[in-house]
Amino acid sequence: MDPTTTVYLDNAATSYPKPEAVYEALDRFMRRSLANPGRSGHRMAVESQRAVSQCRSLVARMFGASGPERVVFAFNATDALNTAIKGLIGRGDHVVTTQIEHNSVRRPLTGLAASHGVEVDWAPADGEGVVDAAAILGLVREDTRAVVMTHASNVVGTLQPVAEVARHLRETPTLLIVDAAQTAGCVDIDIHDMGIDALAFAGHKGLLGPTGTGGLVLGERALPTPLREGGTGTDSESSTHPEELPERLEAGTLNVAGLAGMAAGIRYLEERGVERVGDHERRMGQALHDALAGVRGLRVYGPADFGLRTGVVCTNIEGADPRDVAAMLDTSFGIASRPGLHCAPGAHGSLGTHPAGAVRLSPGPLTTDSDIDRAIEAMTQIAAALSV
Ligand SMILES: Cc1ncc(COP(=O)(O)O)c(C=O)c1O
Repeated sequence: MDPTTTVYLDNAATSYPKPEAVYEALDRFMRRSLANPGRSGHRMAVESQRAVSQCRSLVARMFGASGPERVVFAFNATDALNTAIKGLIGRGDHVVTTQIEHNSVRRPLTGLAASHGVEVDWAPADGEGVVDAAAILGLVREDTRAVVMTHASNVVGTLQPVAEVARHLRETPTLLIVDAAQTAGCVDIDIHDMGIDALAFAGHKGLLGPTGTGGLVLGERALPTPLREGGTGTDSESSTHPEELPERLEAGTLNVAGLAGMAAGIRYLEERGVERVGDHERRMGQALHDALAGVRGLRVYGPADFGLRTGVVCTNIEGADPRDVAAMLDTSFGIASRPGLHCAPGAHGSLGTHPAGAVRLSPGPLTTDSDIDRAIEAMTQIAAALSV
């Protein structure tokens, strides 16, 4: 399959294509400045360090961090979530989370419950994949260490009541850890205004960087214990890892080339506007969802109004295995989608699509009307062939 003619509707997994400026930044950086940042004083190393600092400042500005040092780079959203969850939650703590979390939240919390006696309460979602703020807040106790929740479901795109939960928690000692893997880059987020203590993001999704990028933005109340220790290029004489941010949470050589690409992605978003990118994706999703809802044998999930969602569309053909549908989309129509449980079995439980899951079609900033038309036509033909 020629990727240049593929209709790529798997942006919720990782974004493609990237804006041209991202490819150019990666190429330029790899050829000219790919030295180890902060480790040597030569010009290429200084250039490399500058790329890291610029990217850090761009992320801080995008998410309202109080300073660039409160941005810590990671290799993906999972890595950032592990840093936040395992670095902030300790033995015997009580935590509240939700039924629709991605495995990058569900598994670390389940692991902490087994290894550290952490008590975890799970707030349920409704049949459309939305968790009510009251259901979360009703589980919070005086001694709750943290609420860990996603900003939007990766399965069905539903936006979750982060702002409302944050408003209540900021008056309490309970920390709010938010998984913004699906919203960073398409929904405006200001951790300071919203009252988020730790925000995990993926650089390779909405921020339009390459794979291997992600990070954590920390508010004033959150200072995770490091999971990794090692070289930072600073204070090398000391046998203990630096305590100050960002080095505290960044051991070893960073993915500097990736960060140079991600910086170009963020600049693209700043120019086009995060809300405008989000509006574009929602418009694409709404058109696809509405058309598919009218096709015989097809089922679409989640709220009909994409004002309450990201652009993700979740669908099934009655009686057909989602894997077969995705395979036909790929081989017969050149359309990239993602079938199955999307690493979030609880979200499928709430939609009634567990255990087979569904087909997810996720537009990105560069998805066009004609991509959506091709997807509608393909799904219509597949439904006619497969539906029972
Ligand atoms: C909601 C959510 N959280 C976390 C992740 C993990 O992201 P990453 O692949 O960057 O580790 C994903 C990835 O799909 C996601 O959708």
